[in-house]
Amino acid sequence: MSDSPLALPVVDAELEQRLVGRLARIEELLAEHCRGRTPYVTEAATHLMMAGGKRFRPLLVLLAAEAGPTPDAEEVHTAACVVELTHVASLYHDDVMDEAALRRGADTANARWDNHVAILTGDFLFGKSSELTADLGPDAVRIQAQTFTRLVEGQILETVKPGPDEDPLAHYLEVVAGKTGSLIATSARYGAMFAGATPEVVEALRAYGEIVGSAFQLSDDILDIASESDTSGKTPGTDLREGVPTLPVLMAQASTDPADARLLELLGRPLTDDDEHAEALDLLRKHPALEQAKAYVLGQATEAKQRLTALEPGAVRTALESFADVVATRSA
Ligand code: IPE
Ligand code: IPE
Ligand code: MG
Ligand code: MG
Repeated sequence: MSDSPLALPVVDAELEQRLVGRLARIEELLAEHCRGRTPYVTEAATHLMMAGGKRFRPLLVLLAAEAGPTPDAEEVHTAACVVELTHVASLYHDDVMDEAALRRGADTANARWDNHVAILTGDFLFGKSSELTADLGPDAVRIQAQTFTRLVEGQILETVKPGPDEDPLAHYLEVVAGKTGSLIATSARYGAMFAGATPEVVEALRAYGEIVGSAFQLSDDILDIASESDTSGKTPGTDLREGVPTLPVLMAQASTDPADARLLELLGRPLTDDDEHAEALDLLRKHPALEQAKAYVLGQATEAKQRLTALEPGAVRTALESFADVVATRSA
């Protein structure tokens, strides 16, 4: 990646400065929105919020807002907080579901406290996010509610195996679009909407966000296999351990090569045994399915970029194009 202080390379120095300035303000606002009535609630809510994180969704709100006439509007900042609060809340819940111990390089709330604290803190942050959404008016409330429904349904669907007549890849892509595509699509949509962009541009950015969002999750699933925890801040192989099939796994499972017999035997069931888990991770890292999955994600980035033709050519469109590329090729 570049030396940019943002989670994407922005070639236009003025645009970069504007985004960095606005993100700093959003950091302050986020810290305020994590405050509860008692220090205990504040501590639990601040724990993950301030442990870092790429702030990818608020950044997308700000970047999409640049496609409208009022990118510095107060509502744009509020919307950026709404999406990050929703995201972090979903992480508290996700780490309970996935029994994860590490997040953003810190202990998860379930590991540091317990599942009750993690779930209720997630709910607290969803509440905070809803309160803020109310300030954005009824359209935003409806969009937020629909987004949240899709996100939760995606998370639930992940726990349900595809039916006998269902294509496992189609099932997985539906999970991904719901649990991650939905909120990232809404981030791009909110940015454009609250900066007063035309309905055509708002729709183009929503559609772009939906594809970029799914690609982001696919990359994350690839990184779960390919990366080490010191770069991701998470424990690698978590999906494998939980028996959650992801793109590289589904692609490997399509193999009819007899040399893959051991890998196929290991995949498709939770791998709680440390040696089996390490063996499967090692076999997958060397398997052509990993490259095949990366190529699929690159194709998605190209698709996403095609949605941007509704925007004027220039620094903002270029930055959004880089954003899609970074998502497809990210290493952290
Ligand atoms: C993690 O999201 C959950 C996924 C949807 C893959 P991020 O990768 O955006 O996590 P943070 O916010 O940077 O910690
Ligand atoms: C996270 O999915 C999606 C949401 C939080 C909605 P994952 O379980 O794949 O993400 P990580 O790997 O824990 O960040
Ligand atoms: Mg998880
Ligand atoms: Mg999960």
